[in-house]
Amino acid sequence: MTRTGRMTVASTPEELREARRPCPSPFGLVPTMGALHAGHAALVRRARAECASVGASLFVNPTQFGPAEDLSKYPRTLGRDLELLEACGADVVYTPRAEEVYPDGFQTFVTVERLSVPLEGASRPDHFRGVATVVAKLFLAFAPDRAYFGQKDAQQVAVVRRMVRDLGFPLRVVVVPTVRERDGLALSSRNAYLSPAERASAPVLFRALSSAREAFDRGERSGGRLRTAMRSVLAREPLAEPLYVSVADPETLEELGEAAGDLLLSLAVRVGPTRLIDNFLLERGRWETGILEG
Ligand code: PAF
Repeated sequence: MTRTGRMTVASTPEELREARRPCPSPFGLVPTMGALHAGHAALVRRARAECASVGASLFVNPTQFGPAEDLSKYPRTLGRDLELLEACGADVVYTPRAEEVYPDGFQTFVTVERLSVPLEGASRPDHFRGVATVVAKLFLAFAPDRAYFGQKDAQQVAVVRRMVRDLGFPLRVVVVPTVRERDGLALSSRNAYLSPAERASAPVLFRALSSAREAFDRGERSGGRLRTAMRSVLAREPLAEPLYVSVADPETLEELGEAAGDLLLSLAVRVGPTRLIDNFLLERGRWETGILEG
């Protein structure tokens, strides 16, 4: 266990238990895979504003990577991550090794069945099983009162909220709006992979979502026509290869024929070799990457 300023860094479950014990409630947890950016900082600051103690995890979770996704290439920036977490007011940081999280012979996984199948799940079949399993383990290890996730990963939010309800974890999931660059590009650790030309094309995701939002604001309620609005913006960007566009219920992720009630517009696009995702959440008729709690 090490201390940097007022922050304790634990790297084993035993060290985490010792560091967690004196923390006053409510305890807020921000699970991360490191390579932190301003989007993560927004999660930690929100936790700091709402909780008496704040924990974060830095763990590149191998079980959420598919066989074709390169785990070893995932950016690792531990020194900078610790500085950011300390600056944002974290009290406890957990940096376990993979052997600690997945001991020899590991075979117990959490599967959130239907929500893991569409959208991201269609091309990443075991991804959400890996996410749900590691998040469940982090909830058990930290015993948080609140857990903070970014709206950017809307399907992950739906999966985690369902798991929390189904398994009865006694905590509240807090969803924090997506942080964006000035041109609308959602912050993501993957943006680091973009060449200058690809970076210039990447705001097409935001423009596509915006065009569907504008169509909705003009009264368009057909899910099909909202999808077409997104597709036609993407088609005009030569470096962008659309993987899916979706107009779905934010909780069940079922595709909507008619847009009524809360709505999730989402898409995945390959820009060069990099797969980017983004979404807009419409809650109670307001277009915002708004905040969901519960
Ligand atoms: O969103 C992420 O960074 C990861 O999926 C999470 C929630 C930390 C689980 O590994």
